[in-house]
Amino acid sequence: MSIEFQSFCMKILMVCLGNICRSPLAEGILRQKSIENQLNIAIDSAGTIGIHAGEQPDKRMQATALKFGIDLSNLRSRQVSLADFQNFDRIYAMDESNFKDLLKLAKNDQEKAKVRLLLDENPLNSLKNVPDPYYGGQEGFEQVYFLLEETINHLINNLKHDKR
Ligand code: 4NP
Repeated sequence: MSIEFQSFCMKILMVCLGNICRSPLAEGILRQKSIENQLNIAIDSAGTIGIHAGEQPDKRMQATALKFGIDLSNLRSRQVSLADFQNFDRIYAMDESNFKDLLKLAKNDQEKAKVRLLLDENPLNSLKNVPDPYYGGQEGFEQVYFLLEETINHLINNLKHDKR
């Protein structure tokens, strides 16, 4: 008889509004950093609305990510589902509006406790919201990249030291 040791795997879902700009980038950055740091994390992303379901990330977001070595072309937008609250350990909202929408979907306190604001992981800035770059210029996409990159460095550190 063999005994199987299943290594612990944290499951993290990144959520924004459309799942074509901010949360796919957060997913891509976290995936890259979790590999670099040899952390066993299952990562996905979703949007609170489904109007872009099935689409690739926004071309401007893909171009920005690629500039920093992250390929988002395999990702496809999907809407958050009720099953996500069971399947994931943590659900990170990109802004307070996403956060409120997620709390409305959560069925009980245990599910609500999984929902967090991503920028609360970052002690270096007091922003609560990852700005939505969708209606702005290219520079907005780069700002989002730097903010997410810095924040996910803290998230990785917090996970490593089990601080949160
Ligand atoms: P995201 O950006 O929430 O970062 O993916 C948006 C994408 C699409 C729309 C709004 C925000 N939209 O209204 O279509």
